[in-house]
Amino acid sequence: KTLLTGQTLLFSGDPLQTPWQDCVRIDSAGGVLIEGARITAVGGAADLRAAHPDAAEIPYGDDLICPGFIDAHSHYPQTAMIASWGKRLIDWLNTYTFPEEIRLQDPAWAATLAARTLDLTRAAGTTTLCSFATIHPHSASALFDAGAARSQCIVTGKTCMDRNAPDGLRDTAQSAYDDSKALIARHHGQGRNRYAISPRFSPTSSAEQLTALGALWAEHPDCLMQTHLSEQPDEVTWVRALFPQARDYLDTYETHGLLGARGVYGHAIHLTDREVGRLSEVGASVVHCPTSNAFIGSGDFDLARMVRHRLHTGLATDTGGGSSFSMLRTMAAAYEAGQTRGASWHASQLLWLATAGSARALHLHDEIGTLAAGQYADITVLDLKSTDAIAQRASRAGEIWDDVFATVMMGDDRAVRDTWISGAR
Ligand code: GUN
Ligand code: ZN
Repeated sequence: KTLLTGQTLLFSGDPLQTPWQDCVRIDSAGGVLIEGARITAVGGAADLRAAHPDAAEIPYGDDLICPGFIDAHSHYPQTAMIASWGKRLIDWLNTYTFPEEIRLQDPAWAATLAARTLDLTRAAGTTTLCSFATIHPHSASALFDAGAARSQCIVTGKTCMDRNAPDGLRDTAQSAYDDSKALIARHHGQGRNRYAISPRFSPTSSAEQLTALGALWAEHPDCLMQTHLSEQPDEVTWVRALFPQARDYLDTYETHGLLGARGVYGHAIHLTDREVGRLSEVGASVVHCPTSNAFIGSGDFDLARMVRHRLHTGLATDTGGGSSFSMLRTMAAAYEAGQTRGASWHASQLLWLATAGSARALHLHDEIGTLAAGQYADITVLDLKSTDAIAQRASRAGEIWDDVFATVMMGDDRAVRDTWISGAR
């Protein structure tokens, strides 16, 4: 038994749907009891200490004990090409991304990148990663294996594309189906692994491939399905030309069986009212990738619109399109993106997106995303005075949320005091 004591971040509801003051609380003298891989009690430090005198206490003082951060959309194969200069989406994919992803034909490089990505993200406080792999089946296995070595929950899948991609980076409708199916059998539900069927996006899949993957999802309805949706205007125009019979971009997924509650749609920026309404109707999830949207010049995700439609929304780095591995930096970018649209998201709402919101978007909310008995002990502890710049701001703050906001806006991996994954520090 281990007892973490400090300031605990507690959610009792969704602060995007109800006033945050009613459903988010920071207990300044809180505690989290861990037994094995799970949280078994959450409450006041003094009460937990008295009830569990046999627990080893880790006193975190004024640090903020949070649910571990959950990055709901990323590309671990792109880790070594993050911050590539000067291109927009389609050009960026062809110039930087695809040549980089071909390199993962080497299983040793895939394993190196998988381990490197989990080390970098964990240092930034991320305890769960949902990532695309490459077309190579071993690239999905490499990330699952690296996650298992860290007892970490991983969501990934072999990326599928059979057109508009270079030689060496195309599969076929049949091989995408067969390879994905074999990976589901091998990895899905093994330990903390979760498989996501992963057509990259409509431009790189033939109708035949989309149909095959829709059929696979119908056979394995408990798997997630992740893809990209309406990231840049040029891409939307291209999709219209490739699928002239489709009502809109989302329809290219829906008509092939790739729209559903366990569908996770990255970016989702340039959407029609029909698309937002339809996503909401089926209970699908969208993922906000604010550093990427700014870096690749994609546009402004309208979080308030998603909230109005009660769309499940996760938060993500989208590395290497995103420019940071840190979910703190990503929360700051989400705040800045909100400001340009006239919405000032509160620190509690940003933290919710990075934890419980992402967990909900990935259908993992029964296991992770909040500090509560029964959840996995995936915990990120934040030092709220991690740099001189933050500390001098924090020392003037009269109120805990001011301190938290300063760390959300200015914090980086130096603010991450500790991460706990499956109850291990
Ligand atoms: N759309 C299709 N593939 C990608 C990718 O790798 N990154 C981003 N940001 N958008 C995409
Ligand atoms: Zn992406």
